[in-house]
Amino acid sequence: MKYQWYPGHMAKARRMMEDSIRLVDVVIEIVDARCPASSRNPDIDRMAAGKGRILILNKSDLADPAVTALWSSHFQSAGISCLAADARRRISVRTLTQMTQKVCEDRNARRRAKGMNTDHVRAMIAGIPNVGKSTWINSLSGRASAKTGNKPGVTRGGQWIAVGSSFELLDTPGILWPGMEGEKTGRNLALTGSMRDEVINIEELALELITYLLKSYPGALAARYGIDESETIDAQRDDMILRPGTSADAIRCMEDICVCRAFVRKGGGVDYGRAARAILDDFRSGRLGRISLEKPPAKE
Ligand code: G4P
Repeated sequence: MKYQWYPGHMAKARRMMEDSIRLVDVVIEIVDARCPASSRNPDIDRMAAGKGRILILNKSDLADPAVTALWSSHFQSAGISCLAADARRRISVRTLTQMTQKVCEDRNARRRAKGMNTDHVRAMIAGIPNVGKSTWINSLSGRASAKTGNKPGVTRGGQWIAVGSSFELLDTPGILWPGMEGEKTGRNLALTGSMRDEVINIEELALELITYLLKSYPGALAARYGIDESETIDAQRDDMILRPGTSADAIRCMEDICVCRAFVRKGGGVDYGRAARAILDDFRSGRLGRISLEKPPAKE
């Protein structure tokens, strides 16, 4: 299950990012708080070298707060200014505005020492698809819609948006491509909706999510669907072909969810497709609770 991001997209996105970065003092990088490593592109460190940097752990309202706290201290101890936020809340906007000024304090002090009047900060937002870039631009600008599309090359003219009196934001977000390879990264990006559902097998993805939840968030499925999580089945059942990342118990849970929710096909038999869509929707909208998909590496 691999992220579908083509070399052509990547080259175009890189060019656009590099052009935009030249214009700004600060790059505000947005990642998904539920999987900050999977949704980050490490190339940005090189592209934004010498610029002020802020990392937003966005959608933190959907992530496990204890795990988000671990990520915040992980990034902060690496010297990265980090904000756990919900893009749709006013308080997030206020905090980000203050952080942006703070990140530029040294630069502004140097410029002032040279007699330049410069409390003015120019910033841009960057991130992979679906992490909340447009929502942040809308919140910061107070506008209703800044939907730009997720294809690199879709620009809105490179206008500046005034955020307060001394902060200007480029109205076109920088689109980054997912950085890391690997099954887990692909799974996490598919679960959080950074990969289009049409290119993935949603039943397999839902089974991977159930397997993960049974292990890492016991009780979450029982609370939502009223199923019994403690019941286990014989993993040797010969009608099951298990894919990596899924478990026999996940299939049993999926079947139970079908029964509890009456997801049955016309001619009889459980409707795995409907159950998969319901489970993924419930995860993405937070109805299964606040869930994180990865933790930072443990400190030595
Ligand atoms: P992008 O520009 O990076 O591609 O992301 P975009 O802002 O379009 O946001 C993608 C989806 O994530 C949107 O939902 C948006 O409302 C939601 N979102 C953004 N930030 C947050 C956040 O901090 N918390 C939560 N819970 N959701 C957030 P959508 O369903 O695709 O669109 P819509 O129906 O909300 O317009």
